[in-house]
Amino acid sequence: MKFFIDTANLSDIKEAVDLGILDGVTTNPSLMAREGIKGEDAIIQRYKDICDLVEGDVSAEVFSTSFEDIVEEGKKLAKIADNIVVKVPMIKDGVKALKHFSDIGIRTNCTLVFSAGQAILAAKAGATYVSPFIGRIDDTNWDGMALVGQLVEIYANYGIMTEILAASIRNPLHIVRSFELGADVVTCPLKSIMGLLNHPLTDIGLAKFLADAEKTKV
Ligand code: G3P
Repeated sequence: MKFFIDTANLSDIKEAVDLGILDGVTTNPSLMAREGIKGEDAIIQRYKDICDLVEGDVSAEVFSTSFEDIVEEGKKLAKIADNIVVKVPMIKDGVKALKHFSDIGIRTNCTLVFSAGQAILAAKAGATYVSPFIGRIDDTNWDGMALVGQLVEIYANYGIMTEILAASIRNPLHIVRSFELGADVVTCPLKSIMGLLNHPLTDIGLAKFLADAEKTKV
């Protein structure tokens, strides 16, 4: 059971590291843009900064869409640090690149996965992680969580080593359900991780304990 944070924001990553439960980081072009990061040098610097903070795997997404360019970009990203995992989109050239990376020992995360068929291709191509996008499936009135269950079953049938990384997580219940179904990893914003802390009975119980603790003072 692994927790990744889905952000390129350094202070959110630090907060999750400080909590002591963080196993890795995922990013994507939208998350980089949200941080106002522009240009290759700045992107590479941000990955270096993230890798300095986190010992676990850090997914760095390629912007390219042709096999040759994905391979070139992925190799460059993989050189940044030993814990970089190259994130590749689920497209035809992406599948070819996943296989190539697998053959040369570069670890990968296959992103933008919305169906079991896509996840089967990713696994066959030797992806290290496969990222089903739960929240975006839910947004279309389909059942994102059903896909997680389906992937867990299919991969277990064949002893597939590709790890199921539940992504596009929008709330704490998505996290709990993903782990309940057997996802290997969940990646989510800091807000969803912190949301796991909340229960009104904890707040009520703590207030009572603190009030009673006052009564024990001499
Ligand atoms: O890891 C993929 C994730 O960042 C997508 O999340 O919320 O944009 O659907 P979202």
